[in-house]
Amino acid sequence: MNTPRQEMEARVAQAVAKLFSPVPSGPYVRPCPDPRHGDFQTNVALVQGKQSQTNPRELAEKLVETIAWNDIAKPPEIAGPGFINFQLKTEYIAQQIGRRWIDERLGIPVVEKPETLVIDYSAPNIAKEMHVGHLRSTILGDALARLYCFLGHKVIADNHIGDWGTGFGMILFGYKREGDPEKLKQDPFGHLETIYRKIQAKAKADESVREAAKRELVLLQQGDPKSRELWAQFLKYSLDALEQIYQRLGVHFDHTLGESFYNDLLPGVVNDLVRRGIARESEGAIAIFSEGKLPPKDDPFLVSDKESASGFRDNPLLIRKSDGGFNYAATDLATLRYRHEHFRAERVIYVVDGRQQMHFRQIFDAARRWGYDGMKLEHVWFGTILGPDKKPIKTRDGGDVKLKALLAEAEERAGKIIVEKRPELSNSEQASLARIVGLGALKYADLAQNRNLDYVFNWEKLLAFDGNTAPYLQNAYVRVRAIFRKAGEQTVKDAFLKVQALAKLEPSRPAIFLSERVELELGRKLLDFADSLLLAAGEYRPHYLCLYLFELATVFHKFYEACPVLIPDEAVRNSRLVLCDLTARTLAQGLNLLGINVVEQM
Ligand code: ARG
Repeated sequence: MNTPRQEMEARVAQAVAKLFSPVPSGPYVRPCPDPRHGDFQTNVALVQGKQSQTNPRELAEKLVETIAWNDIAKPPEIAGPGFINFQLKTEYIAQQIGRRWIDERLGIPVVEKPETLVIDYSAPNIAKEMHVGHLRSTILGDALARLYCFLGHKVIADNHIGDWGTGFGMILFGYKREGDPEKLKQDPFGHLETIYRKIQAKAKADESVREAAKRELVLLQQGDPKSRELWAQFLKYSLDALEQIYQRLGVHFDHTLGESFYNDLLPGVVNDLVRRGIARESEGAIAIFSEGKLPPKDDPFLVSDKESASGFRDNPLLIRKSDGGFNYAATDLATLRYRHEHFRAERVIYVVDGRQQMHFRQIFDAARRWGYDGMKLEHVWFGTILGPDKKPIKTRDGGDVKLKALLAEAEERAGKIIVEKRPELSNSEQASLARIVGLGALKYADLAQNRNLDYVFNWEKLLAFDGNTAPYLQNAYVRVRAIFRKAGEQTVKDAFLKVQALAKLEPSRPAIFLSERVELELGRKLLDFADSLLLAAGEYRPHYLCLYLFELATVFHKFYEACPVLIPDEAVRNSRLVLCDLTARTLAQGLNLLGINVVEQM
């Protein structure tokens, strides 16, 4: 079913097509910049007036005569030079609420043409413990996977873990010299990290160590048994640890096809690229260069260079190093081909740090030249989480903040608040609440940001019960549950049956009453859920959904203060119970799409 915005858009579009030729391009309708003037506004009369040198107010009048607004809106108003403002009819809002309320999917249709999409997220480089830098990709990717799945697409969640890169060369080199199987068993990451740090420091100062580490990587990639065996051990420890974190976060993958999975495909990929003239040899290595077809400033294989006569120089994408080793880019190209052939992916969404923008521009352009131009490729990039000093967040001693520790702290801090608020609950109830509230708050704080921006991490802010936070939204849900408990199961059931019966008779007898101002405001807000989902999915920006849920919760809290629900007037009481129910279900569904749970009480 259409949202009011979609409905209004469709009706304006119909009139526009009838009246104007050529038809100006849409969308025509947007929410009124000033809600006091109405719900929606169109400026299409102004656009067309300019185009055809006609008086826009006259065009606006013609439009108002032609648009079929009568059953959904009050008589439109023409404002200023030719804007048209629409105000929805209360009866229409009430009827639309009824329709959503009786629908399990809250009126959100599944897409007509489901797409097969691979979402590539989390993807930590392993043999190192997951740290705060992996949080955004994991949470954002999970939310997008949930969102697209809910909309009816076929989503394949693939964790492209870094289990094969340069880091492993270093670790193998170090472990073969000073590794200790006992220590590895006790504390795999601690041990591997100590080794890694030492070798990294040595490699910085000593060229021969760097070379040796590279040789180790090549050995591994070529299948040396001893190296493979060690690697498999490290991998096992890492995967176990990853799984624990994902379980705790409620994040799920359909596949974990790490970089190693593609190893055997790499020579074929590189050969194919060379054969097709997309890649070529350069100083012993193999790389992809500019094709010279794009304007230089848009060409990811060129960078500006004031020294050079053309103002640009080559910015090749290396796919095979001069030592014969394959790299990250070669793997990404092999992965892309695999996802096309094996998963039949129509779209691949890479949820990866903004620092890899150039990498993906090059990969995407190479893929296009390679013939994969039918696949939609999106780099959904994000900024950095900052500490109080506005620098990338670190522990006190300058190390990476371990994800495990961060999650524990979220639960611990939420736990303190819960214990204070709800001392009467049992310990295990408090603990399970603390987990949902703490992790929910952590996720929400991340998802509520425009992903392209860096943000400053702040525990007090993200756990606050007031403001654009998960606890604030969860609390709105809790309030509804409390009302329902107070009303009693039977009362709620009876109310719902009565409203259902009336809703089926619509519109002859109203079931939903929106006579109070906040009641109408709440009812109006409830209808916009789908708009926010489509916007969030379309732009890969869950913060639009967060913003919507925050606004919904805000109106609901206002409604809760102003409109008592359990009142003697049965018809109004029933109607308010339904408003409460639809609000709670919308919040629960919305939060679920963000990977956040609701609770019955808090
Ligand atoms: N492992 C990489 C990193 O930590 C991210 C991989 C993202 N996915 C991809 N297909 N390149 O930087």
